[in-house]
Amino acid sequence: MDRRRLLIPLLHLILLCFVDDVLSGRTSSYIRSEYPSTDIPLDNEAFVVPEGYNAPEQVHITQGDYDGKAVIITWVTNSEPGTSEVWYGTAENKYEFKAQGTTTNYTFYDYKSGIIHHCLVDGLEYNTKYYYKIGTGSSAREFWFQTPPEVNPDAPYTFGIIGDLGQTYNSLSTLEHYMKTGAQAILFVGDLSYADNYKYNDGIRWDSWGRLVEKVAAYQPWIWNTGNHEIEYRPDLGEASPCKAYLHRYSTPYKASKSTSPLWYAIRRASAHIIVLSSYSPFVKYTPQWHWLREELKQVNREKTPWLIVLMHVPLYNSNQAHYMEGEAMRAVFESWFVQYKVDIIFAGHVHAYERSYRVSNINYNITSGSPYPVPDKSAPVYITIGDGGNQEGLASRFFEVQPDYSAFREASYGHATLELKNRTHALYHWNRNDDGKHVPTDHIVLHNQYWASNTRRRRLKKHRKIPGNASLIAKYEELLDVLV
Ligand SMILES: [Fe+2]
Repeated sequence: MDRRRLLIPLLHLILLCFVDDVLSGRTSSYIRSEYPSTDIPLDNEAFVVPEGYNAPEQVHITQGDYDGKAVIITWVTNSEPGTSEVWYGTAENKYEFKAQGTTTNYTFYDYKSGIIHHCLVDGLEYNTKYYYKIGTGSSAREFWFQTPPEVNPDAPYTFGIIGDLGQTYNSLSTLEHYMKTGAQAILFVGDLSYADNYKYNDGIRWDSWGRLVEKVAAYQPWIWNTGNHEIEYRPDLGEASPCKAYLHRYSTPYKASKSTSPLWYAIRRASAHIIVLSSYSPFVKYTPQWHWLREELKQVNREKTPWLIVLMHVPLYNSNQAHYMEGEAMRAVFESWFVQYKVDIIFAGHVHAYERSYRVSNINYNITSGSPYPVPDKSAPVYITIGDGGNQEGLASRFFEVQPDYSAFREASYGHATLELKNRTHALYHWNRNDDGKHVPTDHIVLHNQYWASNTRRRRLKKHRKIPGNASLIAKYEELLDVLV
């Protein structure tokens, strides 16, 4: 009995140390040292123009329907329109099928785009490798892509997450490291080329960006989202139509999710339901985006797609001095829905750094009552800010001190992330720092699905309740574990 009296305080001490360790957020002390934040020169091989007369360039694909049986293939020709046909099939060099695309082009001040081709290729089989050919004669080019597994609650799938990419050597490093991960599709959280940082928003930098990302984007779908650098609102140049270049160049399957705008939409892919929101389109009550999101959330079926993921450009939780509080308006409008529908994870960009939150919400405050502070909430999403693709504007290196309780980990470095959906209950999330050309796994968590893993979680907590000692302390520890995952 005496031994037990001695043991219990000792266990408390060990537990407290552990609780303290898991509770405290961490601000990484890593400082990057090299690689200037300047764009790669246009004559660099990263932007190489493919050989051949009128050869297709800037090839990229995205999902073309709601459930992953279609792709939209986009490319540019510069000398003449040429053909908008895509030849495709399931064997290399044997193209049994043909799809007919359409063309568009645009001007922006004194820039005139090439001919932009968009071709929907639909009716595909799941889980199948397709080869495709675009262009004609000796200028034709061939690529391939893999369709996802059929929508299924246990379909494993790995997404990459990249934001605010730009076209510097750091951007290239992000892409090269990403290509080694084995991820199958990219969730892109906005700010693509940063062409708007050039005089007259030089469209040539939209072209070079298209050539830079082709090595990835021609082979796997990028799920697009817009950031502030896509707006390009320049009435002083006679250009007052927002997102003109982006909307001409990047297609999204918005009609498949009954959206009325290419800027917000949803797809289902493998075991995930992915909702793309536009930070720079109206979203307050009664706007088209608000109506659409309300209906789309009702469509989410966690029995089919357990993983509910939301993409946006402006983070709702951000403790960096850059863009501080810019997401507050959208948080006030949408956060209660994210908690109500138990969103698993929300990815945002905009801030050129990395930050991960615990599961928190701030939905009790309603101007007349309630706490105005974020609190642990096991129904809330994990918020990830990943605007660290490597663009020319450099890093957002100043975080607010003291680190807020909701912030689990933060670091001002470039990088990308992967989200491996293993089954309906578990996923592995990794953030990889890529500063100065080195690929360094830096932050990772195991995600328990917000819909399916609750029983598992309860079982795990019961096990912890068998630990002898102070009940309230144990309960607090359990609550913290809950919030962590
Ligand atoms: Fe941004």
